[in-house]
Formats: sequence, C-alpha cells, structure tokens
Amino acid sequence: MGSELIFRGHETQPTPDAYSPKPPKPWLAVIRPIHYVLREQRLVFVLVGIAIATLVFSLLPAHHGNNHYPISVSSDSRILSESTQLTHSGFVSGFGSFHPGGKVPLGLKRKGLRIVVTGGAGFVGSHLVDRLIARGDSVIVVDNFFTGRKENVMHHFGNPKFELIRHDVVEPLLLEVDQIYHLACPASPVHYKFNPVKTIISNVVGTLNMLGLAKRVGARFLLTSTSEVYGDPLQHPQVETYWGNVNPIGVRSCYDEGKRTAETLTMDYHRGAGVEVRIARIFNTYGPRMCIDDGRVVSNFVAQALRKEPLTVYGDGKQTRSFQYVSDLVEGLMRLMEGEHVGPFNLGNPGEFTMLELAQVVQETIDPNAKIEFRANTEDDPHKRKPDITKAKDLLGWEPKVSLRKGLPLMVSDFRQRIFGDHKADGASTITSSSV
Ligand SMILES: NC(=O)c1ccc[n+]([C@@H]2O[C@H](COP(=O)([O-])OP(=O)(O)OC[C@H]3O[C@@H](n4cnc5c(N)ncnc54)[C@H](O)[C@@H]3O)[C@@H](O)[C@H]2O)c1
Repeated sequence: MGSELIFRGHETQPTPDAYSPKPPKPWLAVIRPIHYVLREQRLVFVLVGIAIATLVFSLLPAHHGNNHYPISVSSDSRILSESTQLTHSGFVSGFGSFHPGGKVPLGLKRKGLRIVVTGGAGFVGSHLVDRLIARGDSVIVVDNFFTGRKENVMHHFGNPKFELIRHDVVEPLLLEVDQIYHLACPASPVHYKFNPVKTIISNVVGTLNMLGLAKRVGARFLLTSTSEVYGDPLQHPQVETYWGNVNPIGVRSCYDEGKRTAETLTMDYHRGAGVEVRIARIFNTYGPRMCIDDGRVVSNFVAQALRKEPLTVYGDGKQTRSFQYVSDLVEGLMRLMEGEHVGPFNLGNPGEFTMLELAQVVQETIDPNAKIEFRANTEDDPHKRKPDITKAKDLLGWEPKVSLRKGLPLMVSDFRQRIFGDHKADGASTITSSSV
C-alpha cells in the first residue's frame, strides 16, 4: 500500500521480459579511472613534476666540479646552513659549521660576502668600506651621520654592491649578513664629550643590538675597541693582558668605560651564545677623511699649520702617543676578522712620539715657521700610550708599514683640499684639543 503511494508509474514501466542489457565493454574499466585522475587529480601531477625537478637539480651539480667552493670563500649556501642551525638549536656555531662543497642551485652565481659596517661613513669605516668593495664584497653601511659624512662614501653611490642606511645603532636592525664590523661610536673627545650619555648608550645598547643581530643571523662580529680601555696606563708599553687604569667617573669615562662594557658584552655573547667575535683595540690612527676639528692631536696640528695658526700643545708636550696610518689599521681589522683568533688585539704603530716631536714633524711637512703654543692639559689625559703588538704579529702576521713621515703628507693634501677647496665652512671653527 505504502509503495503504491510513493510510486505510481509501475503500470507504464516495461515488463522485465522487455529489458535487454547493453553488451559489456571491458576497456571502460581501464579508461574510466584514467579519465577520473586526469579530470580530478591534477595536483598529483604537479607534485610528481616538482619531485622530478628537485631530483634533477640535486643530481646535476654533483657532476660539475665548478660548483664546489673552498671554505675560505663564503657563499649564500653558508647563510642558509647557518640560519638552519639557528632555527634548530637557538644558537649558532659560526663559521666552523660551514661545509665546503655545498651546492648552489644552477643559475645562481656565487656572491662575495655580505658585510655590515656600522659607522661606515666615518673616517676609519669609509676606508674599510673601500677595501671590502675592492675585494668584491657587498657592503651595507649603517650610520647616523653624527660625525660621519656622505662625502666619505659617495664614490660608491650607484655601485650595486654598496648600500647606505641612515640608522642609529641604538635601535635594533635586522639584516641578513655574513660579517658585522661594528665601528659606530663618537670617537674623538670633542664629539663624545658633546653628549656623554648618548656616547655610553651607543656603546652599550648599540653593541648589544649588533651582537643580537650577529647571533640571530649567524654572522661574525668585530668590535672596534680602543687603547682607551687601558686608561692612564701603569704598564708601558701596553700588552693585551693589562687590565688598565681607568677613571670610572671622569669626563672621558663615557667613552673609556663604554668601550670596556662593549668588550664585556662581546665576550659574554661569545661564551654564552656561541657568537663568533673579534675584538680590536685601536691606538691613535690618522689619515685622509679624519674630521678636521675633532680635537685629535694629528688633525689639530695639521689643520692649524695649514691655517697658519700656532700649534697648540697641551701640558708640557712630553706625553707620548703612537700614530698609525689608516691603511695599516684597515689591513689589521680585515686580518683579524678573517683569522681564527678572538683577541683582543692591539692594533697600533709602536713608533712612539712626544707631542713636541709630532709638532716638529708637522712643521717639517707643512710649515717650518709654524709656532707652538702651550696650554694647560685636559682632564684625565693619559701620559703614555704605546702598543705592544707582539700578539698581532704572531697570530695575525700583521704589523704597520707606513711611517708618520710617509703618511702625514697624504693626510695633509686631503686636509688642504677640504679646508681651502670645496669645504670652506670647515675652516671657521676654533679648535679645542687634547693629546688624544
Ligand atoms: N681613529 C682612531 O684613532 C680610533 C682609535 C681608537 C678607536 N677607534 C674606534 O674606531 C671606530 C671608528 O672611529 P673613527 O675614528 O672612524 O671615528 P668617526 O667619528 O670618524 O666614525 C664614527 C662613525 O660612527 C657613526 N656613529 C656614531 N654614533 C652612531 C650611532 N649611534 N649609530 C650609527 N652611527 C653612529 C658616526 O656618524 C661616524 O660615521 C670607533 O668605534 C672608535 O671608537 C678609533
């Protein structure tokens, strides 16, 4: 009864006797699934295609000797291998973890190193950038232009291997790089005394940020520390094992103690987080592109002699300094970065000059009639400074090559051009100096 209510067309349906089934087609059993796969399973084919391509890419380079690279040259594959380690363990084991012979996908050319130079628009930084670019590396300069100048790096504008970022290192920054040369810091007394709190913050927070970056991307980190960490030294010449004699509350402490803290942070990141670090303790350096009126003794004397002003000597002029030409320093920094030793290393010229002797060399080079004027010495001015560079000689195979009498004329022609040439504004201000 119920079925009749639901289906009422049975009277008109053909009787079972009238039904004749179609003859079976056996090939349909094969063709139908293929049709179905072709229609509905395109994704499977895409995946199979990717698998075949991956196989081809990973097998082919193994037969090409050209795609193996020596350990001394970094490639992007190293960045990959190191960032992988970072993800897995939270730490990086640095350069030692790079496996030579890593394959670079076909069609990608091996590049030079990618290097950040903080403070790269400054005096030392810009010379370092010149050398790194000449070596074929890609360089990113990070600078807030407090004492640096665009003119120092302008000749690289337009070079695809050069980038310039206006940035203060007290703010964090993320860049994928192989090496970090950390120079950013006001370096002369005039500049660091201008804003002492900012100086110590740059040294502490700036260094912390750059070490954090090094840890995150597995980069090697080099700190440019200073001979000022020895303070007014009770040991002469200064060896790296000497802990120094520093006034923690003086007018120079923002710089001296700032650099000492930066060294501490650097070593703690090395010991605690496995970051590859290098520490250079730089002694007085001079050369082209130094700030003209920065209160450092060589730039003071040269600028004064060129302007026909008396050379101001502070105290009795018997305090000593050693003067290193900038190209020697840059060579030392690069050897330190590429070498296997953490440091600290003294980088300076052991040739020792009193301030009066330096004034004489400046007179001989620029103006024999230049007068010398004595003034009261500045607070905490160290009496003696001379690096012991035995460690750098032994472990880095480094020693300075350029004597003061050879290097000074190169600096003089740069200063002459900037004072009397297109940078006349620089020539107006008064010089306050110490024998730094
Ligand atoms: N030249 C030397 O005799 C000497 C000696 C000892 C140590 N050092 C060290 O070497 C490094 C370079 O010194 P330099 O002589 O070239 O000095 P510099 O003043 O010419 O260069 C320092 C650079 O750092 C930049 N800078 C400063 N604070 C910054 C910040 N917070 N963020 C970003 N950039 C910042 C400046 O604009 C400048 O370009 C410094 O760390 C200095 O302490 C130099």
